[in-house]
Amino acid sequence: MPFVTTSESGVQIQGPTATLIYDDWYPALRTATLRPGKLATAMLLDIPLVLGRRSDGRVFAMRDSCPHRGIPLSYGWFDGNRVTCRYHGWEFEPCSGRCELIPSLTTHDHLDATRIFATAFPCEERDGHAWVYIPGPGSGKKGSAAREVPELAKFGPRYRCAFLTADLPCNVDHGIIGLMDPAHGPFVHQAWWWRSRASIREKTKRFEPIPEGFRMSAHAPSGNSAPYKLLGVYGQPVETTIDFTLPNRRTEIIRCGDKWFSSLTTVTPVTGSTCRIDVIAAWNVFYHVPLVTPIAKFFGARFVRQDQVTMIQQAEGLRHNPSLMLIDNADKPAKWYFALKQARLDSADAAAQKHPIDGPVELHWRS
Ligand code: FES
Ligand SMILES: [Fe+2]
Repeated sequence: MPFVTTSESGVQIQGPTATLIYDDWYPALRTATLRPGKLATAMLLDIPLVLGRRSDGRVFAMRDSCPHRGIPLSYGWFDGNRVTCRYHGWEFEPCSGRCELIPSLTTHDHLDATRIFATAFPCEERDGHAWVYIPGPGSGKKGSAAREVPELAKFGPRYRCAFLTADLPCNVDHGIIGLMDPAHGPFVHQAWWWRSRASIREKTKRFEPIPEGFRMSAHAPSGNSAPYKLLGVYGQPVETTIDFTLPNRRTEIIRCGDKWFSSLTTVTPVTGSTCRIDVIAAWNVFYHVPLVTPIAKFFGARFVRQDQVTMIQQAEGLRHNPSLMLIDNADKPAKWYFALKQARLDSADAAAQKHPIDGPVELHWRS
């Protein structure tokens, strides 16, 4: 039985199963896992996918289900150009999904195989990930052009990058509000190299509305965070911008003179009740210092792992359908998220969506 929490603004927060946002791009998997002539599987928004890379380099994503009798196409074969179903050998061109061959047909049949299509989703490669456009049930795939494929902001040709991923046993709404939650830091992420619980102090942050999201405006980042102190060695002002945009994206850009760090974090619904966090990061800070990539991976992985462990524990509690609450000011971004999401669900037309923030606003909390 799904539970519902109503926040003060009257926005309903759904229980174990979240309402999903269709008609947008979601990361399915890292393209480094796509091997020539091999098929890979992923799940997005409760849709099983089979992915691969054609011999011309293009990546594709099809529904992992043969249109003939529904066996997963991932059990079949892929020669770099066509996916062959292992049951009756129908062959499909994987980017369009078009059936190219039905081996059982004879000259007595009048069936034109090429009029049959397996479901193929728009699929693009960016920042080492296969992004898949998931249209709403029954809406076709025409909308994909209307929404840009997400891409990490980079500020020069030379940079290092790192990727992280973690499965979260809670629905996408809990994953996202956990991601934007400022108050858990001193408790979940306490570590000698980051910050300690004793360093809690009052913060004031300025937010402003952006299309389908909000921005925490540029400012000098928390002086009590060790990584930011490290950046400070360049002796120039450090500016940070953190944006959240629907359906699931947090981008953080830190710039200090010509040095920069950029990350794109997404929380993607795998099913209605589970999600996955993916972090794509790039930077040119300390470009010439060896070991920076492994060090960043170590700290980043530990950081994400701390969130993951907390959400595994939270999921234990959520199984019993508790009623929940969102408080001011620390949960205000979560309230905005739910309001933005509701506006998007009510109308796909961004211009018609009522924005929950009507101008710059300051929030105060202790963290
Ligand atoms: S089930 Fe795929 S070809 Fe028959
Ligand atoms: Fe966190």
